[in-house]
Amino acid sequence: VLNRLGRRTVVFVGLMGAGKTVIGRKVAATLGLPFVDSDHEIEEVSRMTIPDLFAAYGEEEFRALERRVIARLLKEGPQVLSTGGGAFMSAATRQAVARHGVSVWLKADLETLMQRVVKRQNRPLLQADDPRAVMQRLMEVRYPVYEKANVTVRSRDEPKEVIAAEVMTSLA
Ligand code: S3P
Repeated sequence: VLNRLGRRTVVFVGLMGAGKTVIGRKVAATLGLPFVDSDHEIEEVSRMTIPDLFAAYGEEEFRALERRVIARLLKEGPQVLSTGGGAFMSAATRQAVARHGVSVWLKADLETLMQRVVKRQNRPLLQADDPRAVMQRLMEVRYPVYEKANVTVRSRDEPKEVIAAEVMTSLA
């Protein structure tokens, strides 16, 4: 797999709760590549949490910072990069990913996503009266775009090792 990847970064895309960070870490360990998470990098450079960034500057500013951070990380590769759920919606980011990486869409169903996101209150987009309806709407809007990823792997309620192994197979 490493040979096939060459200098390309493995880029995880997909909705909040799809398991991009958990599976990304696992795949990075298997490949012996560094793991980076765009949300984490954004928090480092801004010295703010994502909810605070959204509250103080709004989503547009967050997206601009997200594009810059991901463009920089892609040039630092090869590594394994987990992106925030909205990142791949940017055409510029998709182009940069196509140039420097292999994109992997972790596709999960609504139940799985909701189960995983209730555990943490760190997603400003889901601070709504009906987070489930928001998630459903995001699925409708984003799935046609996530489909452009190079490979798709289903993320279900299985041990992370199983899903990570499926990612490895899809990259081979
Ligand atoms: C977002 C997903 C979050 C984070 C921000 C916006 C989105 O990342 O970037 O809250 O638009 O889907 P995760 O997908 O890692 O939760």
